[in-house]
Amino acid sequence: MLSANPPFVRLAPPVQADQTSVPHTPEGETAAMITNGQGEFAISPDLLLSELFRSHPDTRIVFDRYGLRGCGGPLGPSESIRFFARAHGVDELTLLRELEQAVAAPRPRSHCAAPMRLAPELADSIYRRYFLAGIAVVLSAGASWGAWLLWTIGLNGSFRAVSVHAINAHGEAQIFGWVGLFIMGFAYQAFPRLWQTTLVAPRLAVVAFGLMVGGLFVRTVGISAAEAWTLAAPLALTGGLMQVAAVGLFTSQLLVTFWRSGAVVEAYVGFVVAALGWFLLSTVFSVWHSWHTMTAPDVDALVWAIATYQAPLRDLQIHGLALFMILGVSLRMLPAIYGLPRVPERWAWWLLSLLTGAVVGETIVFLAYRWTGYHLIAMGLVPIWAIMTATILVLVLQWRPWRPMPEPDRTGKFVRAAYLWLPVSLVMLLVMPAYNRLVGVSFSHAYFGATRHAITVGFITLMIMGMAAKVVPTLNGIDPRTLSSLRGPFLFVNLGCVLRVTMQIATDWIHAAYAPIGLSGILEVAGLAWWGLGLVVMMRRGRHAEVVAASSLAPARVEANHRVADVLEWFPRTEEVFLRHGFTALKSAVLRRTLARQVTVAHAAALRGVSLTNLLKDLNDLAYEPVMELPVLSADTYSCTKGGLQ
Ligand code: HEM
Repeated sequence: MLSANPPFVRLAPPVQADQTSVPHTPEGETAAMITNGQGEFAISPDLLLSELFRSHPDTRIVFDRYGLRGCGGPLGPSESIRFFARAHGVDELTLLRELEQAVAAPRPRSHCAAPMRLAPELADSIYRRYFLAGIAVVLSAGASWGAWLLWTIGLNGSFRAVSVHAINAHGEAQIFGWVGLFIMGFAYQAFPRLWQTTLVAPRLAVVAFGLMVGGLFVRTVGISAAEAWTLAAPLALTGGLMQVAAVGLFTSQLLVTFWRSGAVVEAYVGFVVAALGWFLLSTVFSVWHSWHTMTAPDVDALVWAIATYQAPLRDLQIHGLALFMILGVSLRMLPAIYGLPRVPERWAWWLLSLLTGAVVGETIVFLAYRWTGYHLIAMGLVPIWAIMTATILVLVLQWRPWRPMPEPDRTGKFVRAAYLWLPVSLVMLLVMPAYNRLVGVSFSHAYFGATRHAITVGFITLMIMGMAAKVVPTLNGIDPRTLSSLRGPFLFVNLGCVLRVTMQIATDWIHAAYAPIGLSGILEVAGLAWWGLGLVVMMRRGRHAEVVAASSLAPARVEANHRVADVLEWFPRTEEVFLRHGFTALKSAVLRRTLARQVTVAHAAALRGVSLTNLLKDLNDLAYEPVMELPVLSADTYSCTKGGLQ
């Protein structure tokens, strides 16, 4: 990607550059110098959007076309033009040129209207309710409940100390409430922007949210009351069907949004679509499995159901939904956010087909082994796990997570650790048959649980923590340089995960290893709570800034019941109309800040004995002159070769 060359281009000066902040372009970097009636303004790829919007709010409409819209609040996200271009897949040079045009020849606005800011729409902050609910679930029925179960297991020195239904209530709450809600929130928020379109029927995303959270609550209550309440199974089924409806809505909304966007079907989109398929399939399977286990006529039938269907279900949820969605987002975002190398498209398509084959294979082979009882069939899992591990290792070797990120960021360590935990969990799976032989058992529950925890906490949870800590400040217009390094939560969760994985395996060898297990859960929950609280504070700040900004948004028409001070804020030049109609008191800044805040246009007209109709007509005539459209520039118009513009 080329930034604008040669260093300075002289163009018409920008209008109304009352607050210009000429950035210091770094050495060797180029900037376009634009001049208009108000002087000179330099646009360089490193200019922050907030700096540009402060002095040239009109340029926001250029970014909105590429998916910015209400993101980041009134002054947009705290990111550079270059970062925006990379994150939104826009040709940097085209974007710079469109911005230069917007600054050099700002659209004529009505000569007294304040710059138009788009009111935040529902889809602009749809992620927020999903992320907040996800944090609430992980800190309640999810990780905290899990920590309690772990404490009980540790105290009693046995994994049988807790009921399988209690474990499954935790498991389902984590899969749907932690992973599911964050995936849905992130996807609803980011994918339409990446596809440079808008989400189809955004209100349905609120319906999906209600169905998912309501379904989760009803289902968790049902599953955890399985042994105590006859209506528990129908209740869990009801909740489960609500979740199926939520996932169905989510999946169809995203597919229609993508189809309507006309965006190119890149490999990362292939991963996302496959993940949506696993989400739908595994949700239906999980509802059936809950009903099956909760209505099992006796212990043998329950054990059979758990031993036969639980592992394939988790494979679809963890190796299918979570792994595919995270890989899809990583392929698209990690190069843009952290400067990691792009995986060649052909490689990525190969990765997708091999991993899809592996997930289908491990599900079918395991079910065939269970249905037939032939242990030899189970050996078929080893080559499948080998393919999965090798595929992931190819990717990890490409990104080298053991090295610092090319573009350092406070969240980079979460992503690096996650892509180290993923191959660890897969290699553990691959050597499981050998481990079982070493321990002298046909299946080690402790070892298998440890491989699961390495991927659910080590990979999935750390990726959620890292990506959410990256996007939430951006979406709320918060400068990440003002935020903490998150080293504490990072250390707590990793330490807890290492302790859990190692001590759980050690329980196969020494009983004393049960004692520290309980501590691991507390460390993980403490780290999640520390991280989660920080995110909640940022989202509340963003919400507050939005409410404040929204309250100052210009209405479609000046009405009689609008306060004089608001009209002046929305349309500063209407002062001349008020003065023309005799409201000279408005020349006083004090009266504008005090009296004008209390008085409506109708009241002022009555006080001055002015015709309200005429006053409103003059105000609206001035406020809304017709607006001219910006020229759409194609990348080809301004293609350039290194070292200069043609
Ligand atoms: C962060 C702290 C966590 C703690 C303390 C925790 C605790 C536990 C415990 C004690 C069990 C039962 C273990 C056994 O019987 O072997 C369990 C099982 C399970 N956990 Fe967690 N967990 C945590 C995080 C997660 C996460 C992040 C996920 C999913 C993304 C998850 C999903 C599951 C599932 C699905 C099961 C059932 C296992 C199976 O069906 O194979 N857990 N967890």
